Order: sequence, then C-alpha cells, then structure tokens
Amino acid sequence: MKVLIPEEAVQKRVRSLARKISRDFAGKELLLVGILKGSFIFLADLARRISVPVKIDFVRLASYGPGTHSSGTVRITKDLETSVRGKDVLVVEDIIDTGFTLRYLFRRLRARRPRSLKIVALLDKRGRREVPLQVDYVGFTIGNHFVVGYGLDCNEEFRNLSGIYVVK
Ligand code: PRP
Repeated sequence: MKVLIPEEAVQKRVRSLARKISRDFAGKELLLVGILKGSFIFLADLARRISVPVKIDFVRLASYGPGTHSSGTVRITKDLETSVRGKDVLVVEDIIDTGFTLRYLFRRLRARRPRSLKIVALLDKRGRREVPLQVDYVGFTIGNHFVVGYGLDCNEEFRNLSGIYVVK
C-alpha cells in the first residue's frame, strides 16, 4: 500500500471543512447523517470540529444486483431513527464514486421535507461519476484509485488506518 493522503493532511482538511460548515450554518442546528459504514471516522472527526450544535444519526445502504454500484440499484437496510422534517440536514459520506448511493439517499431524504439538505464528502472520485450530483463540500478530489483507511475498507480491513492509502 502507498500513502495517498497522510493523516496530517486529512486532519487539516477536516478542520477546514468544519470551519466552513460552521460558518455556513451559524445560528442553526445541524443533523449530521452518516452513511455506514465508511463514514464513521470522518463523521466522528468532523462532528468534533463543527462549532454549531449537532445531532447525529446514521443510515446504512446496500447496492445489489450484478455490478453492485454500477447497477444503480440501492436500498436502505438501516433507516434513520430521527425525523428530518424541517431540519438542516448534512449527509456525511466518505467517498463518492458513481454517485448512485447519494442520489438515491438524497431523493429519499428530500421527500421527507428537511429545511435544507446538503452533502459533505471527504473523497470524490469525480471521474467515475455516472449520475449528476451536487456535492456541497468536498475534502479531496482523487483519481480512480482503490483507496483504504480513515473508514474505507478492503474486505472490511484497514478502516482503522489514520491516513488514506492506495492499494496496489
Ligand atoms: C462506498 C461509499 C459510498 C459508496 C459510493 O460504500 O461509502 O457509500 O460506496 O459509491 P457510489 O458513488 O458508486 O454509489 P460501500 O458500499 O463500500 O460500503 P461501506 O461504506 O460499508 O464500506
């Protein structure tokens, strides 16, 4: 494995995203919605750096069918436990690839009438996008690498690494 983004650079970027988000939501309360499992470390760090009051909830999504993500078929396997109606919601994702996962979640959440609905993603593989998606806050745009660490796995391993690594 080769380091792509060292721990210090990840932390610096998370701090800067948190500052921007805190400014944009000044005077409001945020509901952070983490997408399991990959977002758990990013969400934990981001939440501790955001200076406006936050509440936290999680969803888990599954893709199925041949080709998984590229099939575009997504379903919720663990839903939110909180109502999003009338709230300022920020979806927290570790990585966006084709965009199918977030497009599905975004549509489902928007139908529940939040006051606002935005997306923060630590990593964006923009070149792989198959559906248009507006991502409000992006940590790093990366190439088409298979990456692990900081929540991201390879067969469930390596989620606990502090930096982001490319698997060769
Ligand atoms: C990853 C990532 C996103 C999704 C992005 O999750 O966390 O949720 O894939 O892909 P897309 O843009 O092509 O839809 P994964 O399925 O690896 O699950 P995990 O977070 O539980 O590891």
